[in-house]
Amino acid sequence: MRRRRHADSSVRKPAAVLLVGIFCMNVSLTAVRADTTSADEAIEARVVELIGQMTLREKIGQMVQITAPGGVPEDLRNAVAAGEIGSILNVVDVDTANELQRIAAEQSRLGIPLLLARDVIHGFNTVLPIPLGQAATWNPELVERGARIAALEAATVGVNWTFAPMIDITRDPRWGRIAESFGEDPYLTGQLAVAMVDGFQGDDLAAIGTIAACVKHFAGYGASEAGRDYNTTNIPENELRNVYLPPFKATVDAGVVSLMASFSDIDGVPASGNRFLMQEVLRDEWGFDGLVVSDWVSIEQLIDHGFAADLREAAFKAADAGINMEMVSRAYADHLAELVQEGQIGVARIDELVAGILRAKLGLGLFENPFTDPAELPEIANSDHLAVAREAALQSLVLLRNEGGALPLDADALDTIAVIGPMADDPYEQLGTWIFDGDPSLSVTPLQAIRDMVGERVEIRHVRALETTRSRGTEGFAEAMEAAAEADAVVLLLGEESILSGEAHSRANIDLPGSQVELVHRLREAGKPVIAVILAGRPLTVQNILEQVDALLFAWHPGTMGGPAIADVLFGVESPSGKLPVTFPKMVGQIPIYYAQKNTGKPATPETWVHLDDLPVRAVQSAHGMTSHHLDAGYTPLFPFGFGLSYAQFSYSDISVSADVIGMEETLTVAAVVSNDGDVAADEVVQLYVRDLVGDVTRPVRELKGFERVRLNPGESRTVTFELDAAALAFYGQDMTLITEPGQFHVWVGGSSDTDLRAEFTLAGD
Ligand code: NOJ
Repeated sequence: MRRRRHADSSVRKPAAVLLVGIFCMNVSLTAVRADTTSADEAIEARVVELIGQMTLREKIGQMVQITAPGGVPEDLRNAVAAGEIGSILNVVDVDTANELQRIAAEQSRLGIPLLLARDVIHGFNTVLPIPLGQAATWNPELVERGARIAALEAATVGVNWTFAPMIDITRDPRWGRIAESFGEDPYLTGQLAVAMVDGFQGDDLAAIGTIAACVKHFAGYGASEAGRDYNTTNIPENELRNVYLPPFKATVDAGVVSLMASFSDIDGVPASGNRFLMQEVLRDEWGFDGLVVSDWVSIEQLIDHGFAADLREAAFKAADAGINMEMVSRAYADHLAELVQEGQIGVARIDELVAGILRAKLGLGLFENPFTDPAELPEIANSDHLAVAREAALQSLVLLRNEGGALPLDADALDTIAVIGPMADDPYEQLGTWIFDGDPSLSVTPLQAIRDMVGERVEIRHVRALETTRSRGTEGFAEAMEAAAEADAVVLLLGEESILSGEAHSRANIDLPGSQVELVHRLREAGKPVIAVILAGRPLTVQNILEQVDALLFAWHPGTMGGPAIADVLFGVESPSGKLPVTFPKMVGQIPIYYAQKNTGKPATPETWVHLDDLPVRAVQSAHGMTSHHLDAGYTPLFPFGFGLSYAQFSYSDISVSADVIGMEETLTVAAVVSNDGDVAADEVVQLYVRDLVGDVTRPVRELKGFERVRLNPGESRTVTFELDAAALAFYGQDMTLITEPGQFHVWVGGSSDTDLRAEFTLAGD
């Protein structure tokens, strides 16, 4: 069998290698990269010139990031003027930002402007759905638009660098930070990550209103053990390369300005001191020459990890690994100079690290104009921004159950609706995690939106029933029962508040918290249609309410315009069209459960799985099962990756491949017909999956390789096509190089990862 080893054409030679000699005493630009433009060349020339002029103290100053104390106190003013600070985190007042930039530009010796950073994760004042919700849109163009408005709003206060997107692959919904992720899949995450980076950075990074992106957390953070935040990870290098790194590679290729190191350790080496990740993979293999920032105090935490004895050793290990800038802690500020003076770290290493920071500042055009004039930017939370937030929320809604067409509700046929639950009317809690600058006064809640939708004619009876999602007790149930009894339909707004997900907010039990499950069961007794809408930062284990509700709509934390989006779907103004970016388990014990699993040597089948209740007593060990499954949960999830119902009826047929056999240089076209057999127009996300049947390393049973959101009118059919080339089939083999192997492949097209519409093809060797 002959296989293709990829030289990885996208890998550029590291600038550090090509800019030979720039760090010598007589600084001169002796070579530039083959693929550079004249703008890049100008930037490289400035980098060389500046580094040639900088003292060691000034260089180290660029590598220091502090968090804003508020205002411009004397010591901060002096430090910036002395060139001791390269970046400030959390300045969100434009006058402060401009004053700090003025000091840097006009009073520091070399006039190097500041990177002003902020966590702009899913919107600024206008809040978009949490990233996991945005991932449910499967709409890169919409994700890009969302990031664009976030950048425009953040730029009004002088922010020029966001710590987003978070592109950690995670297969553990217990982990609170799954809310910030795009879910479990490398391909979907990569597509959305590039879109978000493009939205922040725009076509011209130096333009007004564009800001630098920072993909994080490099790398493997999403595999934190048991979903406990900050925990250790166990990721074999092959899995790291095939699953966790591809989204980072995609954004590096797309020109992301920066990356952030993870808090976690991998194979015993914390990311902030991990030379393999930061130097060998990122710089040497991928050719990245930009900026890597540590996470908050993560260089100092090398001591807590037991990886460095003291701050000095932590500084050494981080700089040696390739961390350009230290966030908040003082290892670099206090120890790098002595490490250089003692010859432990070469000046050339410092110069390389500083060059990455200067490239970011030059690329942003900060030397030409470090100042912000809000009048040059669109008004915050203007109607266009709210419209994008509403569209993103709408497309993020995933319909998980709709028995007997319970949804959409017909407002004309209803006299009274009971709107019940702790998430019905809470402007703050619908925004989700990481919304430091989100403005809850802009929020339109589901209750408000339902009222606006149905008008005066329909009576809305609102009962909170539980003070918070975590409240235990049933005191509020009687009023809720009464409202339900008198209503024609019950709309239940449940879930978890924002604080139950996000950083350091992991859960071991991911059921609906508090007495919410009991509330659902009690309301069922009223005998009215029960529509549950769940607002949450993660997949929840909802099997315990599924049979009790007629419809279940999963809304994530939908952001500022969540209410109108939910009302549009509840009343059929639009069909739901979100698809799960992450598998929903039946119960916590199934975690990790994800669609791109390996087949194993003993794959489970419907025939081999026996529920433990059905096992006979005194059974012989080998008489039942003997395949990979749980006796109490089987081997399938509650809802698979890619799943989501619609008010339309989509069917798939006529899958075809353009050739039975393709060569390494050829492209295969996979086509299938998708039809709307229902009676409403709706969007559908058509998905392409591939299986490589035999590999140098075992391959997943399915891998997403393409998707497209299409809109079909009732009765309309469309042929959707996807192109697959050898590069799309590549993977890292046993020797950790990227290869494409000849052999047989299966392809599927459908509306979910469990589609069974399949074709086959063979990839021939050269
Ligand atoms: C810690 C988080 O891990 C990171 O994602 C964030 O960007 C920084 N804090 C800065 O707030």
